[in-house]
Amino acid sequence: MLKLDKLVKTYKTGDQALKAVDIEIPKGQVLALIGPSGAGKSTLIRCINRLVEPTSGQVYLNDVELTCLSTSALRRERRRMGMIFQEYALIERLTVMENVLSGRLGYVGFWRSFLRKFPQSDVDEAYRLLDRVGLAEMADKRADELSGGQRQRVGICRALIQNPALLLVDEPTASLDPKTSRQIMRLICELCQERNLAAIINIHDVALAQMFVQRVVGLRFGAVQFDGPPENLTPEVLTMIYGEEDWEATIEKIEDEDEADLL
Ligand SMILES: Nc1ncnc2c1ncn2[C@@H]1O[C@H](COP(=O)(O)OP(=O)(O)OP(=O)(O)O)[C@@H](O)[C@H]1O
Ligand SMILES: [Mg+2]
Repeated sequence: MLKLDKLVKTYKTGDQALKAVDIEIPKGQVLALIGPSGAGKSTLIRCINRLVEPTSGQVYLNDVELTCLSTSALRRERRRMGMIFQEYALIERLTVMENVLSGRLGYVGFWRSFLRKFPQSDVDEAYRLLDRVGLAEMADKRADELSGGQRQRVGICRALIQNPALLLVDEPTASLDPKTSRQIMRLICELCQERNLAAIINIHDVALAQMFVQRVVGLRFGAVQFDGPPENLTPEVLTMIYGEEDWEATIEKIEDEDEADLL
């Protein structure tokens, strides 16, 4: 359903952030994108919805080539891609409900959204989503009154209310404590399964990625170094992606921990 074909991004500064990346993702698959800082993970995600313009190569979403669309056609296609950021990117002075509804801005007309008059069906869906992520009681709270984990849940609702076919997630747990990180990763992966959504999740925590996803892609210097199931991420493979380190500790950590304790 998503296909990247020889995707290249060279920034004006000359940085070669992506070097001919080929990735294909079927419907419903959740993929974790790992790799050292500067490997090109954020660039890859942003090239898909063209927040960053690819230098060459193609992106197809359900056979529609996104890379050649006009601005207005692109705006329509972007509705099909929900984005969740590390920095939550909520509007601080708006309520939780208003932040979630802002995910519908691509659908409701400008004046309606300007006046914040959303259809009742959108409001109902926002309540359903908030309930699903455990924030039913928080709808009227202001975004700046929430904890990091709560804010990320609002970000998830805002992405899902778009009814996307694909989720693009950039370091969803980077500023969260370990337990909250797991809860957020679990939530994202469960929601993808429930809705048969494909997702690309950029994540630094390899152990966390291995715990929840079916497929891992490792980027290094803008090129794919590894593409396979999480159980194939051996210390040798991690060294290939990240460089020399003692990886045994990372891998053991996953095997030793009891998932049930962490709920
Ligand atoms: N706007 C930009 N202009 C110029 N170069 C950029 C820009 N954004 C990113 N780069 C460069 O492109 C490369 C890839 O950056 P990118 O942000 O995609 O990496 P990343 O894997 O997401 O890193 P991190 O894990 O630190 O978030 C880096 O060398 C970076 O310096
Ligand atoms: Mg990044």
